[in-house]
Amino acid sequence: MEEGLFITLEGIDGVGKSTQAQLLVEYFTEKGCDVVHTFEPGGTKLGQSIRRMLLDPENQQLAPVTEILLYAADRAQHVAEVIQPALAQGKVVVCERYIDSSVAYQGYGLGLSVDMIAAVNKLATDGLEPNLTICLDAEPETALARVGGDRIEKRALSYYERVRAGFLSIAAQNPQRVIVVSAEGLETEVAQRVQRSVVGRLAQ
Ligand SMILES: Nc1ncnc2c1ncn2[C@@H]1O[C@H](COP(=O)(O)OP(=O)(O)OP(=O)(O)O)[C@@H](O)[C@H]1O
Ligand SMILES: [Mg+2]
Repeated sequence: MEEGLFITLEGIDGVGKSTQAQLLVEYFTEKGCDVVHTFEPGGTKLGQSIRRMLLDPENQQLAPVTEILLYAADRAQHVAEVIQPALAQGKVVVCERYIDSSVAYQGYGLGLSVDMIAAVNKLATDGLEPNLTICLDAEPETALARVGGDRIEKRALSYYERVRAGFLSIAAQNPQRVIVVSAEGLETEVAQRVQRSVVGRLAQ
C-alpha cells in the first residue's frame, strides 16, 4: 500500500511539462517533502533504451500496437523500479507523462482502441493511478512553437488537435483526478496556476 503522493503532468509536446515539473519539485522541496522527479518514456535505464527506439527517426514505420507496447513496457519498469518504491517510502513523486499520454496520443491521436490501451496499461502498472494529474493545455501552435522537431513533433497539426482534445476528454471523464491548467502565458504565471491547483486539491 502506497502512502506517498503521486502527481503526473500531462499535455502535448512543448506545453511546459518539464518546466512546470521542475518548479513543482522545488515547491515541494521547500515545503520539506522528499520528492522524486521522474518522467516517461525513459525514467529507468531500460526505459532509456526504449525511449531511443521510440524517438529514432529510422523507426517511423513502428506499427501503432508496437508503439503502445513499448510505452507500456517502459511504464511497467518505471513503476516497478522508481515510482512504486518511492511511494512506499512516503515520497512525493512528480512524473512527466503517464498513462494519459498513451491514451491521448495512441488512442485519440492515432485512433487505436482506448479500452485496449487502458487494459494494457493497467497490466503494466498493476493498476497504479496518480493521486493528481495536472493537464497543461495550450493551442498546439503555441506549444509546438516552443520546441524543435523529432519524430512525433513532425506529425501533422491536426494530429495534435486530436491529442489535445483527447487530454481534455480524459480530464472531463476523471474530474476527481485531473485538473486542466492553461499553459498559455509566462512560465511564472503557469507555475502559479499549477501550484494553486495542487494546493487546492490537496486541501480537499
Ligand atoms: N510558459 C512558457 N512560455 C514560453 N516558453 C515556455 C513556457 N514554458 C516552457 N517554455 C519553454 O518551452 C520549451 C518547452 O517546454 P518544456 O520542455 O517544459 O515542455 P514539455 O511539455 O516538457 O515538452 P516535451 O513534450 O517536448 O517534453 C522549453 O524551451 C521551455 O523553456
Ligand atoms: Mg519535457
